[in-house]
Amino acid sequence: MLQRIDHLGIAVRSLEDSIPYYEKALGLKCEHVEDVPGQKVRTAFFHVGETHLELLEPTSPESPIAKFLEKNPHGGIHHVAFATDDIKGQLARARDAGCQLIHEEPFEGAAGKLVAFLHPKSTQGVLTEFCTPIEPQN
Ligand code: CO
Repeated sequence: MLQRIDHLGIAVRSLEDSIPYYEKALGLKCEHVEDVPGQKVRTAFFHVGETHLELLEPTSPESPIAKFLEKNPHGGIHHVAFATDDIKGQLARARDAGCQLIHEEPFEGAAGKLVAFLHPKSTQGVLTEFCTPIEPQN
């Protein structure tokens, strides 16, 4: 089942230019910055209570985030990620409900998590991520 909103993914042109807003105007702290070469992005994570913000900066014009920024020049909310203890089960459930899976199999995303996405055309317009820790958390 879905446990909580794990993070909101937010597309930005530049982490360097965006992080100060979150730190200075909102008082959040950047936990870590990480390259995710598989998705051609660099990410920055901020704790907000039990959830996170994940800023996404494209590292290549082929990055899905670069394409998002072409349509949304100011950036903005890119995806909603739900934490689950059963990522394959959630994918199967979504598939059975008629959703289009972008990834048939979960893969390693940022922050040591297995992730998989549902296509926004089949999810009421919201790019939807399921994620689960690779190492079970105690
Ligand atoms: Co994400």
